[in-house]
Amino acid sequence: MARWIVKALAQRTIGFMPNPDYWSDLVQRKIAGSVDLTYPFFLSRLDVARKNLEACARENSPAEVLELGTGWFPIVPLALRLAGASQVRTCDIVEHVSPERLRATLQAFARAADDGELNRRLPAINQALLQQFQSLDSTGQTCVESLHALGVDYMVGDFPAARLAPASIDLIVSHAVLEYIAAAPFMELLHAFRRVLKSDGAMSHWIDFSDEYAYFDKSISPLNFLKYPDWAWRVINNPIIPLSRLRIDDIRRLFASAGFIISHEETVKLDMSAMRKLPLAREFASRDIEDMRVLDAWITARIMQADGA
Ligand SMILES: C[S@@+](CC[C@H](N)C(=O)[O-])C[C@H]1O[C@@H](n2cnc3c(N)ncnc32)[C@H](O)[C@@H]1O
Repeated sequence: MARWIVKALAQRTIGFMPNPDYWSDLVQRKIAGSVDLTYPFFLSRLDVARKNLEACARENSPAEVLELGTGWFPIVPLALRLAGASQVRTCDIVEHVSPERLRATLQAFARAADDGELNRRLPAINQALLQQFQSLDSTGQTCVESLHALGVDYMVGDFPAARLAPASIDLIVSHAVLEYIAAAPFMELLHAFRRVLKSDGAMSHWIDFSDEYAYFDKSISPLNFLKYPDWAWRVINNPIIPLSRLRIDDIRRLFASAGFIISHEETVKLDMSAMRKLPLAREFASRDIEDMRVLDAWITARIMQADGA
């Protein structure tokens, strides 16, 4: 049996056990060893923060920022704080950040300050706040409390729409999150974003359109999952990494229906000859091949004005 199918089946089993996030995290730590913070990963997330700031296209840093999908290491929200955001809110459906991971994140910030990477990758660092990062005593504190002391509001659970005032956010960001959200909840989320974003605010999202199993099983195409019809994908797909398989044309439609206009799109595509060799399921075969072969995309969006601008 192909390696990726074994992994998908294992995740499916874990996904239906009680407390699946606990077991998934345990397997990743003990078997895959994949949740340690490496310095290259840290630096890549500083670059994500910089791309997010560029999406704002303003002279001043965005004041109020909201991140969807914190993940294991709150690098992006802390980097955005250092780069001038006065308040950063970050939310995730799972509490992946632990005191050890927060400590590792702050140590990486200290290393990047020492070796110059922080100044090289981010504009105008708030030095006083950086000192605060380095002197934070988190003994006896929860991650939520420690992050709060650094100006980051870490919220775990469903999207906290009720806690966010209308038109209160300058910048909404996500990285490697939206691909897990199916069309109906995606639309709900976009409506919530539309409500909380200021009229001159911006959104910056990096979306992975590839088949995540191809990172693990190099024998399959990065778009292998497009071979399967919807019914078969429902059997393979699982609650641990629920890949929606929405394509970039679906995303454009959803954004437009929610009242957003995509102002910038930067895509990476699968090589055309490899794409032509992939036997696409009927659901994808009749659609524009240029959209189907997108592997990932940075999307900047703004609220559509009443005149359609
Ligand atoms: C692949 S990780 C990316 C984490 C981080 N943004 C990064 O780039 O390192 C995806 C994260 O999104 C979170 N997530 C998935 N669906 C979500 C949703 N509907 N709302 C908030 N977070 C979600 C997951 O729990 C996970 O932490």
